[in-house]
Amino acid sequence: MHLYTNSQSNMKPSNADQARRFIISCFLILIFLFMLASINQVRFRDTLQCSPATTTIIDNSISPTTPSHTNNNSTPDNLRILIGILTLPDQYLRRHLLRLVYGTQPPPSGAKIEVKFIFCNLTKEDQKILVALEIMRYDDVIILNCKENMNKGKTLSYFSSLPELLLDDVVSAYPPYHYVMKTDDDTYLRLNSLVESLKPLPREDLYYGYVIPCRSMDPFVQYMSGMGYLVSWDIVEWIRDSEIPRKQFEGPEDKVFGEWMREGRKGKNRYNAKWSMYNFPEPPTACTHELWPDTTAVHLLKNQEKWIRTLKYFNVTHRLRPSKLYHIP
Ligand SMILES: *[C@@H]1O[C@H](CO)[C@@H](O)[C@H](O)[C@H]1NC(C)=O
Ligand SMILES: *[C@@H]1O[C@H](CO)[C@@H](O)[C@H](O)[C@H]1NC(C)=O
Ligand SMILES: *[C@@H]1O[C@H](CO)[C@@H](O)[C@H](O)[C@H]1NC(C)=O
Repeated sequence: MHLYTNSQSNMKPSNADQARRFIISCFLILIFLFMLASINQVRFRDTLQCSPATTTIIDNSISPTTPSHTNNNSTPDNLRILIGILTLPDQYLRRHLLRLVYGTQPPPSGAKIEVKFIFCNLTKEDQKILVALEIMRYDDVIILNCKENMNKGKTLSYFSSLPELLLDDVVSAYPPYHYVMKTDDDTYLRLNSLVESLKPLPREDLYYGYVIPCRSMDPFVQYMSGMGYLVSWDIVEWIRDSEIPRKQFEGPEDKVFGEWMREGRKGKNRYNAKWSMYNFPEPPTACTHELWPDTTAVHLLKNQEKWIRTLKYFNVTHRLRPSKLYHIP
């Protein structure tokens, strides 16, 4: 309108002319706005593509809300696995390392894996900012309704909360994950090897891991080590519903978990992943094994040196793309 009145003073156009010009300029503005909108949309899509999905954890499209998962046919092509790493809010550097380690592994074929960090309630002011920023960037954190603890039921909170956290979406597939794993932030998992070992296994009533005691190979005697054990979704729902875990959840959490399985007569299908899973070779004990190619998990990576030795052994940087932008001897 303003532009139009300016030109009016020079041209002195008729009323009909004024009306026509007004309509034309409105039309041009509309076209302009439309073009602007479509350019922005393209840009918006591009930003989406280079934000978390490509740089972080395996495959962000795995979220159980993705419509492609509404088909619940259980074929080996769509194995869905949730890996929960129990850690503490203040372990920022460890999470950084783990995001690198898992985000750079080639996605295993025939499976969608989601890796999440599991905490109890935040307690410090700085966590509220730093963890919130991590979530905005990576969207890979689950904060349970509990107080951080070692042997007082964090594992129970984790498993028993999952159905409610994951099943509230009407379009999501069922089960949201065929398998749910609990692991530690000092464990290195090789996802492809994990998936290959799971493909032939039952998807019901499965309890998978490294059998304790270390010298035993019989998965029905005791329990699976906390370095990383995995259960099928029906067991997750059983943990939510049963009285057995609620009666007894204090004590060493992986041992207690094994007791629930025994008392509830769960885990009729058990898989001993020893010696694909083991403790780092040093210091040598009955639970350690040399690093070797047939590895699903290495545990007790308590310091940077052990991580580096392990990552180096498995050639994790061999896929680095050559470029004139950097030189790494
Ligand atoms: C999914 O599973 C439910 C219950 O097991 C079944 O009724 C339904 O037909 C299945 N849907 C597809 C697409 O396989
Ligand atoms: C955890 O935080 C939530 C929300 O702030 C609160 O409602 C809940 O009581 C807390 N739980 C525990 C166990 O502290
Ligand atoms: C790592 O790479 C070396 C040299 O290419 C090879 O000999 C070795 O087998 C690889 N190690 C593993 C675990 O794949």
